[in-house]
Amino acid sequence: MSVTFRVQIYFFLICLSALKGQSRYLEDNDITQDGMFSILNSEIKRGLSERLLYRRPLRCIDMLTMEGQFTFTADHPQLHCAVFFIGEPQEIISIEYSSVNIDCNGGDFIKAFDGWIMKGETFPSSLDHPLPIYERYIDYCETGRLRQAVRSSQNVAMLFFRIHTPGSGFTVTIKKISNPFPCNVISQTPEGSFTMIIPHQHRNCSFSIIYPVEIKISELTLGHFNDLQVKKPVTGCGRAGDFVELLGGSGVDPSKMFPVADLCYSFNGPAEMKIGCDNTVVRMVSSGRFVNRVVFEYRLLERPELEKQKGNSVEDFCYSTD
Ligand SMILES: *[C@@H]1O[C@H](CO)[C@@H](O)[C@H](O)[C@H]1NC(C)=O
Repeated sequence: MSVTFRVQIYFFLICLSALKGQSRYLEDNDITQDGMFSILNSEIKRGLSERLLYRRPLRCIDMLTMEGQFTFTADHPQLHCAVFFIGEPQEIISIEYSSVNIDCNGGDFIKAFDGWIMKGETFPSSLDHPLPIYERYIDYCETGRLRQAVRSSQNVAMLFFRIHTPGSGFTVTIKKISNPFPCNVISQTPEGSFTMIIPHQHRNCSFSIIYPVEIKISELTLGHFNDLQVKKPVTGCGRAGDFVELLGGSGVDPSKMFPVADLCYSFNGPAEMKIGCDNTVVRMVSSGRFVNRVVFEYRLLERPELEKQKGNSVEDFCYSTD
């Protein structure tokens, strides 16, 4: 960006010196230097802001991690298109239609979805999302004329669209908006760290990592810290209203994944687990009575570690614990 800016300044200086040389021309045309200065100035500003807005064409199947303006134009009937959006954990996605040229009556559509759908599975699962599934679709053909930006509830969102007529299409502007209290998240990277907090809310949150990983939980606080001292029988989390579960599986819907471990008592200090599945989820179930908090980091499992996991085939399911 600073390089762009410098180029603009050089351009500006060149223009200014050119102006000096042509002052007679300027006088003849009755334009003051000041007037020219402000025109140039606003040109530069416009150039800069245009350059800051990233633009590119959209493919029928696409994945976007950046803000910007994206244009799809059908070059033949394109009936099964899907674009995935993902931001940082602390961001939500805003989708705004800048221009739309589709034939709603002829069977074209554009639908935004609050989450991701992959291989028929949904993230966040319907158990963890505040809205029923049908309310998570926003159909442009039904609501588009309102011209309102669609906002996701978490860092992932999607567009589904179907366009029959070549040359038809649309342009969307994607923005990422800060979300200080993320609940459901898909991690963009196979390594990182996260602190999930559910403060006195009756809700469930899932942090999904779409890679085989090792997870290291450094702190888990459920209910009151005093509970740490209380010895409880280790019989799974049973009827506990507040707990954290680690899930592994091959799809994105946490409610269809296998439980790898249930954690229902607070602890401090590292607990490590290798989960050799395509997808790993840390899910917190919260009754709303407490401030629940889990702190963890994760890293990609290397190939040899994965081989070892597979060799360990006592279970025909993708995990083993350390
Ligand atoms: C959270 O999940 C639990 C168990 O998975 C479920 O019983 C409960 O209804 C869910 N709570 C909310 C608010 O969705």
